[in-house]
Amino acid sequence: MRMVDLIQKKRDGHELTTDEINFIITGYTNDTVPDYQISAFCMAVFFQGMSERECADLTMAMVESGDQIDLSAINGIKVDKHSTGGVGDTTTLVLGPLVASLGVPVAKMSGRGLGHTGGTIDKLEAVPGFHVEIENDQFTKLVNENKLAVIGQSGNLTPADKKLYSLRDVTATVNSIPLIASSIMSKKIAAGADAIVLDVKTGAGAFMKDLEDSKKLAKAMVDIGNQVGRKTMAVISDMSQPLGYAIGNALEVKEAIDTLKGEGPEDLTELCLTLGSYMVYLAEKASSLEDARNKLQEVIVSGAALETLKVFLRSQGGDDSVVDDPSKLPQASYVYELEAKEDGYISELVADSIGTAAMWLGAGRATKESSIDLAVGLVLRKKIGEFVKKGESLVTIYSNSENVDQVKEKLYDSIRLSNENVEKPTLIYGEVTK
Ligand code: URA
Ligand code: CA
Repeated sequence: MRMVDLIQKKRDGHELTTDEINFIITGYTNDTVPDYQISAFCMAVFFQGMSERECADLTMAMVESGDQIDLSAINGIKVDKHSTGGVGDTTTLVLGPLVASLGVPVAKMSGRGLGHTGGTIDKLEAVPGFHVEIENDQFTKLVNENKLAVIGQSGNLTPADKKLYSLRDVTATVNSIPLIASSIMSKKIAAGADAIVLDVKTGAGAFMKDLEDSKKLAKAMVDIGNQVGRKTMAVISDMSQPLGYAIGNALEVKEAIDTLKGEGPEDLTELCLTLGSYMVYLAEKASSLEDARNKLQEVIVSGAALETLKVFLRSQGGDDSVVDDPSKLPQASYVYELEAKEDGYISELVADSIGTAAMWLGAGRATKESSIDLAVGLVLRKKIGEFVKKGESLVTIYSNSENVDQVKEKLYDSIRLSNENVEKPTLIYGEVTK
């Protein structure tokens, strides 16, 4: 086989065979196919697309390019959740304890984040003593006992995707639905999940800003999962404004605790119930989505979900008393209010630029080398559609620096008011199942 022929075949709009796709990905991983040919190939895919079968083959070729996590020692159906990323997305912290309370095993492998706030591990490390440096056997044991554990990413997972993603980044080929879908799904599949629930975000703060594209991406990923034997479902949810109120690590831990107590923000709670229902249903712990939702509501009301959180934090060295007393979480030295300059209905809370303001406070990393401040961040006081009076607080700013002028300016630029009544944005735009 010659790579140049395969580039031409894709360029001219033909379908590649499984062997041809394996040749491309294996060659790239082994350095026998050079960057420039893969660049041309990605551009051909960008314009010609890929069939469902090609997407599934590409995904599995990337999965097979490196290690695959074996979760077979964990009892039950392991369901993973993936979000395509947003601002202040506290769902993982809520969903873990929530579905684990119903016996769904959550074996979470997670990373440290780049961007507006940290990743799930950073957030959890806001709990004093909590750590993810545990051995694989210990991880398995904890999931079997408590149904929930989190471990840091290890092993050489999907090296082909790592190489390909960096190359796409500099060849204007990131934004191709078959390439994005196979990239995301390869990582989930290599991480060992039996079933996958996807939260595809749409709107200003999302990777996919356009609703139609978000739906296509969701469908592509659901198709891949189901073709390769992993039951997959997707929800398309709003990221025009940040999810919940809190954006920041310790602040989001507190928000997750509130949500598990049944006192969380309406949008975060609703999204967690929706995603959680899918997880519980796919794990075969409920007879229908409605049954799953009722059960999730019960474990919130009964306090079982909060108890699962405490057991989980304790089992990985964390101080579980933060659940009853969140003031034990890292606290910022300075607290400022961003006052509304006039009366009005909130019409826009531009998620990505609010996220940037949180990053400037130190809540997230701009580069891998940046340090992160777990105490700082933002808490929105109003969401789209709510009325604010002049002088009332729009946002509370938690900072470890006295000077927050730039952050305030960024926030004023991100928040728009209107004299007219504004509707609350739709939270869930659609659901994709097979
Ligand atoms: N996220 C990924 O992991 N891969 C992509 O291609 C795009 C977003
Ligand atoms: Ca939040």
